[in-house]
Amino acid sequence: MYCPNTNLCCLVLFGFLVSHHLSTATYDKSTCSTCKNIVNNFLKGIEDTTRKNFGGGNTDWEERRLSKYEFSETRLVEIIESLCQNSEFECNLMVETNEEYIENWWFNMQKKNPNLFLWFCVDTIKVCCPAGSYGPDCIGCPGGADRPCNEHGSCDGDGTRTGDGSCSCTKEYEGAECLDCTEGYYSEFQNETHSICTACHPGCKTCIGPSNSHCTICASGWVEEDSDTVPDGVVCLDVDECAENSPCEQHQYCSNTEGSYLCKVCNDVCDSCTSEGADKCINCTTGYTMEEATCVDINECSLTVMVCTQENEACINTEGSYKCVCAEGYEDRDGLCVEGKVPEDVEHSEGRQTMEDETATDVNPHEDL
Ligand SMILES: *[C@@H]1O[C@H](CO)[C@@H](O)[C@H](O)[C@H]1NC(C)=O
Ligand SMILES: *[C@@H]1O[C@H](CO)[C@@H](O)[C@H](O)[C@H]1NC(C)=O
Repeated sequence: MYCPNTNLCCLVLFGFLVSHHLSTATYDKSTCSTCKNIVNNFLKGIEDTTRKNFGGGNTDWEERRLSKYEFSETRLVEIIESLCQNSEFECNLMVETNEEYIENWWFNMQKKNPNLFLWFCVDTIKVCCPAGSYGPDCIGCPGGADRPCNEHGSCDGDGTRTGDGSCSCTKEYEGAECLDCTEGYYSEFQNETHSICTACHPGCKTCIGPSNSHCTICASGWVEEDSDTVPDGVVCLDVDECAENSPCEQHQYCSNTEGSYLCKVCNDVCDSCTSEGADKCINCTTGYTMEEATCVDINECSLTVMVCTQENEACINTEGSYKCVCAEGYEDRDGLCVEGKVPEDVEHSEGRQTMEDETATDVNPHEDL
């Protein structure tokens, strides 16, 4: 036999490695996934070498050459080279250790056992189990291998030689076989093998049916109401936390939600409010006054009582407040407005009044310089 790869020839070393490997086999999850990867890469290798070598050729001569290639050692070697990356230690070890088996499958077994995964990973080197079974002896998961955990969870060690088969159920289900309903879900259907659990109404902590009148215990934020509409059930109604005294702070308004409430910030112009918007104020924040049910800015500069009282001061109104500045031609020196040198460009803008308020023109900027 043509031997392109020294590994294929070192049967003595093989024998040692195989027996060593099998006798010390400690099953962990990664062993099975390593094997799965090898099988997947093997199948990919078959595909890749098909494309590479069977691309378009259809003459008799080519056909004959290709069919010779199909189950050839040459092709096997090409495929084996693509099974692991150089850096994948476990993968390379597994391939080297079991190359004899892979070769055996390729030349002798693949017709009868076309599923390489089952033949190699499960039945031959025994690092995986068929789907739905677990542990060293591939025992069926609770609920059976066809429907592990009755389709409502995952079975510990499923598909590997590891694990104890215990079910981790999805949030709706509990119990060893994931057939019982968790709190907040009620059973719509249940027999020994099938179960459907459905969420309770948000008003129920526990329930026996879909609506808020099928509660057995109310959820927090909901109160029980006397009613005999459903035997064994109680009706739970939302508590309107905002109805009487608002639990929210000043500058906030209360917004009721199912089972709870939210405190939201009032519009900036409101001191307190009933909802969002400048027209939902109960009263206005400082600097604003209520006009036609809306809080509007007070123009402090036009009040009868002057707010900027220092000599040569001008008043500028702002949103919610005002500013006292030195009038044009005056500058601030230690808190007093004194006559300042008017810079060139300011002189040219003479007469242009940019301030909103007339009081700014009270002072003539062109007093004798
Ligand atoms: C349980 O219910 C499922 C779904 O309706 C049904 O297919 C199955 O036969 C039932 N099993 C038993 C033991 O009644
Ligand atoms: C606005 O009204 C609230 C109560 O509704 C009161 O506590 C608050 O002091 C008032 N604010 C002003 C600026 O009047």
